[in-house]
Amino acid sequence: MEVIIRKTAAEVATVAADILGQYFRPGGVIGVATGSTPLATYAAIIARAQVGILDASEVEFFALDEYVGLGHDHPQSYYRTLRTELIDPLGVEPRRLHVPDASQAGERYEAEILAAGGIDCQLLGVGTNGHIGFNEPGSSLNSVTRWKTLHPQTVADNARFFSSADAVPRHVITQGLGTIQRAGHLLLIATGDAKRNAVAGLVEGPLSAACPASIMQWHRHATVVVDGAAAAGLKNREYYEFAEANKPN
Ligand code: F6R
Repeated sequence: MEVIIRKTAAEVATVAADILGQYFRPGGVIGVATGSTPLATYAAIIARAQVGILDASEVEFFALDEYVGLGHDHPQSYYRTLRTELIDPLGVEPRRLHVPDASQAGERYEAEILAAGGIDCQLLGVGTNGHIGFNEPGSSLNSVTRWKTLHPQTVADNARFFSSADAVPRHVITQGLGTIQRAGHLLLIATGDAKRNAVAGLVEGPLSAACPASIMQWHRHATVVVDGAAAAGLKNREYYEFAEANKPN
């Protein structure tokens, strides 16, 4: 696992856009996350597409997850969020955005990913409780796309997007940890002090369902990009910085 530490959230977005940008090619398949963290990365990607550095027109996009009960037109549905924050500004045809559908079996989403040739690079955020996608603590390490019940911590964290915590859906459909691990490259980004413990757990804690993001440790091509605040709990921080500056060729 490569750990890249930058001072600011803006620098994290630049590094993430540099990495993700490499997968924008005809036939490319990119896994996208929602929440606050990826927004700056998406803005950087969009800016690059606008000046022609990057072409998104023949890329397929697969979302990690979706709230159960929010239709595509609901402003907080992940379908609508991805259309607004990424797909429409990129000028990508909406049919190229795939989002798990809670009214259908999770296997169908797995089959869609397979039919596209698998995800080349999956962008991930991390919850304060260590979740990725909506695989909450205790998720099977080899799970596939399915419904999950949100952890109370996640409901509290995501209440900022809704009128109140009561308005946050309790159920979601999410790619499983097994689904996520089948992507060719996992790129996890985290910024801010609230992610400090989750980052320490996923990078340096045990590989455990108690911290679902720790599956990054098991993946053959995993990159973690964090800002100084999110990196503050890392014991081996100096080593990661040294290793990044002295990469073997
Ligand atoms: C969203 C998702 C979640 C978020 C996580 C962090 O699609 O899968 O795992 O990445 O909850 O959210 P933010 O970035 O809002 O802190």
